[in-house]
Amino acid sequence: MKIGVIGQGYVGLTISAFAGEFYEVVGFDNNQRIVDQLNSGVSHIEGVENSDLQKWIKAGRYHATTVGIDLSGVDLIVIAVPTPLTKDRQPDLSYIEAACKTVGENVQKPVLVVNESTSFPGTLRNYIKPAIERYSKNKVDHLYAISPERVDPGRSDFNQRNTPRLYAGLTLEASRKTREFYSKFCDNLVEVSSPEVAEAAKLFENTFRQVNIALVNEFAQIAHSLGISVHETLDAANTKPYGFMKFTPSAGVGGHCIPVDPTYLAAVAENHGAPATFIRRANEVNIEMSEYVVDRVQADNGGSLEGKSVLVVGVAYKPNVADVRETAAELVIEHLRGRGAVVSWHDDVVKNWKGEISSPLSGADIAVVVTMHDLVKAPDVVASAPYVFDTTGKLKGVHGL
Ligand SMILES: NC(=O)c1ccc[n+]([C@@H]2O[C@H](COP(=O)([O-])OP(=O)(O)OC[C@H]3O[C@@H](n4cnc5c(N)ncnc54)[C@H](O)[C@@H]3O)[C@@H](O)[C@H]2O)c1
Repeated sequence: MKIGVIGQGYVGLTISAFAGEFYEVVGFDNNQRIVDQLNSGVSHIEGVENSDLQKWIKAGRYHATTVGIDLSGVDLIVIAVPTPLTKDRQPDLSYIEAACKTVGENVQKPVLVVNESTSFPGTLRNYIKPAIERYSKNKVDHLYAISPERVDPGRSDFNQRNTPRLYAGLTLEASRKTREFYSKFCDNLVEVSSPEVAEAAKLFENTFRQVNIALVNEFAQIAHSLGISVHETLDAANTKPYGFMKFTPSAGVGGHCIPVDPTYLAAVAENHGAPATFIRRANEVNIEMSEYVVDRVQADNGGSLEGKSVLVVGVAYKPNVADVRETAAELVIEHLRGRGAVVSWHDDVVKNWKGEISSPLSGADIAVVVTMHDLVKAPDVVASAPYVFDTTGKLKGVHGL
C-alpha cells in the first residue's frame, strides 16, 4: 500500500517514519526547504532519526515532494497540517482547506482520507469532505476518517506504538480501513461512535491540561502571597494516592497545542450558545503569568528594570525541543523590554530565533529561567547572574515561583 502524508512537520513526519516500515510513503509538504532536507535524509523533528529516514529512502519507501500530482497513485492520505488561530483568535482552517485542494485536484481514484490535524467537532464531516469534493473535478467518492494525533515531541516512553489512538470513520468501511492502516504500527486502537467524539476528545484532553496548568499558576501566586512554597505544597498534596494529579507552575504555556486547541473548543461552544468560561479564563491566567513573573523580578530588584541586563534562559516552549511556537519566553521578553531591561537569551537547542542568536550563559545582572533543557547544567545557571529567578522549579537556592 502506498500512502500520502500531507504536512511533514512534527505530526506528519513522525507518522511517515513509523508508517515507512510497512508502507511506501509520499511525504507532501509545500515548504521546498523542508522537502529538500528530508530527501537528503536529514530530519528536522526531534524523535525522527536521520537513520530511519535514510533507511526508508534507500529502500525506495519514502520520498518527500512539493508536487501535488505525486499523490495521484496513493491508496490512503493522512492530513497533518497546522490548525492555528487567526489574528482575532478564531479557528484558522486555511491550511486544512489548502490540503483539501491538493487532495481534490490530484487524487482521482477513491482513497481513504484520514485527518490527524486537531480541530473542532464537525471538521471532518462539514469542512474536509465538502472541500475535497468541491476541488475534485470528477467528484471522486473518497472514504473519510479522523484519528487525532497524540504525539508528544521529545518524549521517548510513549510513541506511535504504545500510545492508544482514537479513530472513527464517516462510514463503517472508512472505520474498518482506518483500523487496518494504523494497526500495523499502533497496538491500542480505540474506535469511538463518530468523528465528532474523536475530534472533541482531542480538544478536551488539551483543555484539561490548559485549565489545570492555569489553576496551578494561580495557586503559585496565592502561595507566594501567603509566604509558603508552592512546590512543597504541591508535593504534599501529591502524597494523596487518588483524586489528585500534580501540575507544576510555569511562565505560561506554549507549543502548538495547549495555547491553541482549547480556543477551538471555546469557539465552537460559543457558536452553539454554550458557555466556555473556564477555558477563556484559563487562557487569560496562563498568558498573564509572564507579566506576573516580570513583576516579581522587578519587585526583587529595587522596583525598576530600567537599563538592567537580563538573560532569559531557555526560549523553547518546553525542555529538549527547538520548538518556539507560542512560547511563554516571548511574552516574558516583551514585558522585560517594555520595562526598559536590556534583554538577551540563552538557548543552545533553539540557537537562532527572531533574528537573534543564543547568548552565553553568563554576564547579566539578572537571569530569568523559562525552560531548562537537559543539556543546561543547573550550577551554570545558578552562577550565570547575581540574581536568578527560576520559573521551572528545577533550581535550588534561587528566587522563583
Ligand atoms: N506538534 C504536536 O505536538 C502535535 C500533537 C498533536 C496534534 N498536533 C496537531 O497536528 C497538526 C499539525 O501540527 P504539527 O505540529 O505537525 O505542525 P508543523 O508546523 O510541525 O508541521 C506542519 C507542516 O505542514 C506543512 N504545510 C502547511 N500547509 C501545507 C499544505 N497546504 N500542504 C502541505 N504541507 C503544508 C508545513 O510546511 C509544515 O511542515 C496540527 O493540527 C496540530 O494541532 C500537533
